[in-house]
Amino acid sequence: MPIHASPNAWVLETHSTAYALGINASGALVHRYWGPRLPYPADYPPARDFGEWSSFYGRSEINLEEYPAYGGASYREPCFKATFADRVRDTVLEFRSSEVQGDELQIVLEDAFYPLGVTLHYRALEAFDLLERWVTVHNFGPDPIRLERIFSAQWHLSILEDYRLSHLGGRWLEEFQLVQEPLTHGVKVLESRRITSGHQNYPWFALDRADAPALEERGELWFGVLEWSGNWKATFERTEFGSTRVGIGLNDWDFALLLGEGESFVAPKSVAGYSSTGFGGASRALHRRVRSSLPHGDAPHKVLYNSWEATGFEVNEAGQMELAEIAASLGVELFVMDDGWFHGRNSDAAGLGDWWPDERKFPHGLEPLISRVNAHGMDFGLWLEPEMVSIESDLYRAHPDWAIHFPTRARTEMRNQLILNLAKLEVQDHLIARIDGLLSSLNIKFIKWDMNRNASEPGWDGAQEPRALWVRYVEGVYRVWDTLRQRHPNVTFQSCSGGGGRADLAMLTRADQVWPSDNTEPTTRLEIQHGASYVLPACALEAWVTDMESERMPPFGRGESALRRGKMPLEFRFHASMCGVLGIGANLLHWDESEREQARALIEQYKAIQPIVQNGELFRLKSPIKGAFSALEYLSPDRTEGVLFAFRTHLSEPVVLPPLRLAGLEREALYQMDGLEGPLSGTALMNVGISLELKDFSSVLWRFYRV
Ligand code: DGJ
Repeated sequence: MPIHASPNAWVLETHSTAYALGINASGALVHRYWGPRLPYPADYPPARDFGEWSSFYGRSEINLEEYPAYGGASYREPCFKATFADRVRDTVLEFRSSEVQGDELQIVLEDAFYPLGVTLHYRALEAFDLLERWVTVHNFGPDPIRLERIFSAQWHLSILEDYRLSHLGGRWLEEFQLVQEPLTHGVKVLESRRITSGHQNYPWFALDRADAPALEERGELWFGVLEWSGNWKATFERTEFGSTRVGIGLNDWDFALLLGEGESFVAPKSVAGYSSTGFGGASRALHRRVRSSLPHGDAPHKVLYNSWEATGFEVNEAGQMELAEIAASLGVELFVMDDGWFHGRNSDAAGLGDWWPDERKFPHGLEPLISRVNAHGMDFGLWLEPEMVSIESDLYRAHPDWAIHFPTRARTEMRNQLILNLAKLEVQDHLIARIDGLLSSLNIKFIKWDMNRNASEPGWDGAQEPRALWVRYVEGVYRVWDTLRQRHPNVTFQSCSGGGGRADLAMLTRADQVWPSDNTEPTTRLEIQHGASYVLPACALEAWVTDMESERMPPFGRGESALRRGKMPLEFRFHASMCGVLGIGANLLHWDESEREQARALIEQYKAIQPIVQNGELFRLKSPIKGAFSALEYLSPDRTEGVLFAFRTHLSEPVVLPPLRLAGLEREALYQMDGLEGPLSGTALMNVGISLELKDFSSVLWRFYRV
């Protein structure tokens, strides 16, 4: 029974965690508990009331309100702010009723005077050990209500404790970098203001006690994400009374939504959890949840080839066919043609919006190429950037007003392109018709959906409330994706946004995978994949083997940059990519026969381990950001077999590597492991570990089985 309910107190239980809330003596809906599941309902602490203190210091200063609104004597980060038609901008939410429907608890709050309702939704995801929270806002009256902040949840932590905040920062080519810092007095804000969930911050947080920090597989951690693909905000507030609260939801920067008579708005979901097994336990819970909501579930991803790094914009029928032939001979299953194939697209200066084959490059259309790819036994995939328009395009000439802009301001071009206003129904319908046309007329099985710039001059001509653009645009993107998915359920979609700029969980209910970064240099890629793995499972992270061997980008907030020269071994590059969804992006014309032979064998090996990597449980044994020796372990869902990857990048001195201790094994069971003579017990493998000898830029992939 995941929800225990009485008229004024509720406990949501998952497999091993619990969350409790209730109405206190002053009638306020307050937080009671978040942590390990307790044996009896009576174990959960009561709803505390700090009435006397509250009247002295202000309403929500000490009270741990579940969903604080801006109003009254309240100075904390609120979850909700609205302005009513008479310009009153003070909200007083009172508890009205509650209802349990299966695994969902709904708590209905209403304003004391105005016809405004806010329903708080809570869901206990028992099997995933996670909670979901979101809200629905209703306008029951005739006058419009302007919503100015709507968070999905406020998460409270135990008071009078010091916490450390972990989050993922980054930028283009260096996404998903783990940042850890003490949470000090005041408010720390993480957000996106770019119309996508963004490269700069990922909507994930984790908090642990400063005096008992969580480790990879040990310790307590409270964590959460927001399922939203646009502007978002998370506030981490540490008050002078020692309470710690996290507000998370839509960004209120440059934001307003007008709710007309009888209208409702559903805010995105915040998913959160408590782990008693450190960061590893937290990420495995999120992985299970992400995998369960992928459009094609745990179906294996095809090994793909993508032409972008090989050909750039120089694509044509003959060149693509030549690459496809080699790709097929290596065991590639899906051939994806990237940017450069459509009308007028010879550089990034033109063509976006004109989604038909460039007559010069593909004089007979795409059909001959697709047939040839299919004849080689591969599926065909195509790159699109549907949300964009180039000034130099027929689409822009026909519909200049479809681009997001302010009529009196210059339209800032980034990568020579503008963003179509997907808040407009006609724009959505146009894109649906265009892409539906491509998918219906050609045998396309995979779409790489790119989105390469951030919004600016966010005007929306004709809208009653143009500041709603940030939200209505994202809803428009969802409608286009959802319609296409429904019409073409067998097509796999990848979400790309200049790399990992839109890799959030809401996209991953529509896309089967994301492209986490344009940085495919394998050592930095290991770090990017490491950061992404705090939230995203391997099956959602496409990873190409390429020829990229650039100098390392200056690290994000960490030590000096390391310069690497010389060719990185092909095996090392493959192993790094095999930790995600293996793809190839190298120029295959440059690979000699021995490299192709090696690639063939590695692809075959990957296909054998793919179910374990894709659907298994991840244990991060050694972090690539903490040293030159890193390792990952994937265990099959029934934990009877596994795969171990270990990498050594560059150590300045020849150093003996420390023993590598495995995780998640049964202590008494025996395991036979590649590279070792006889079987060893789980206890030995987890406590003594194994010794590896690795040279600079070498790696191992070992399989193991329970015997
Ligand atoms: C950005 C993507 O991240 C790349 O992989 C590639 O598709 C380019 N766009 C194409 O313009």
